Amino acid sequence: MPDRYVVIGNPIAHSKSPRIHALFAASTGQDMRYEALLAPLDGFAATVREFVAAGGRGANVTVPFKEEAFRLSTRLSDRARAAGAVNTLTFTGAEILGDNTDGAGLVRDLRANLGVAIAGKRVLLLGAGGAARGVILPLLAEHPAELTVANRTVDKALALASAFPGCTGCGLDALDSRVFDLVINATSAGLAGGVSPRLTFAYAPGALAYDMVYGQDTDFLRQAVAAGATTADGLGMLVEQAAEAFLVWRGLRPDTAPVLAALRSA
Ligand code: ATR
Repeated sequence: MPDRYVVIGNPIAHSKSPRIHALFAASTGQDMRYEALLAPLDGFAATVREFVAAGGRGANVTVPFKEEAFRLSTRLSDRARAAGAVNTLTFTGAEILGDNTDGAGLVRDLRANLGVAIAGKRVLLLGAGGAARGVILPLLAEHPAELTVANRTVDKALALASAFPGCTGCGLDALDSRVFDLVINATSAGLAGGVSPRLTFAYAPGALAYDMVYGQDTDFLRQAVAAGATTADGLGMLVEQAAEAFLVWRGLRPDTAPVLAALRSA
């Protein structure tokens, strides 16, 4: 029997994770099976328990269950605790280990795939929801010159920044005349056709604009192109957070380049 893993979400049918992990398993010769598992909106914990009872070894968790997975975990990694959310569960006996590989995935995509060093850079993170919170600790660990969290609702940016020494918070309108080397969009404005506000900061020469959303020409990316920045979407982050979860479960890191290339060409 191959070891069983799932990605749990609602909705889940269009998840790319089963394809990504199947490619990882094939390239590393791991005997495992990875499937998409739909949980009812009010039935996440029951779905996890059923999967564990059936012999499941681990699960990725996606929208809208990451905070619930955090609460369900009996033990948390430091990065999951900082994120306040869990995207990777490992089941060992009665223990449910909660981890969060999103931030590590972002940092690895920036460094290894896009060749962008974060150390010494002026970094702007747009948004103060779960997606933003999940990447702050790994970004700070790279020692940027500054990390500014800016959000439409100022209070949320201030509250989030105050939880992370080395990080400052402000409203979007406080960005006028500021200059950044790396700008990461962690708002949900690009999803469902939502429109980003007009952003008034400047991109430094050679700056990168990174949207965590993938496969969409978002308003954020269009504004960045007009401002002369290089752009990237979040497909690399998706693949790298999966590779990091695979490493947690299987103890080895798969080669991500062919997987990313396969997804890009699909
Ligand atoms: P997630 O878990 O994806 O981060 P979330 O917690 O609902 O989702 O957070 C969504 C983020 O996108 C918030 O920072 C939100 O700003 P507010 O706190 O002001 O609501 C931001 N956001 C969503 N739509 C936006 C828009 N049209 N313009 C600017 N920010 C937007």
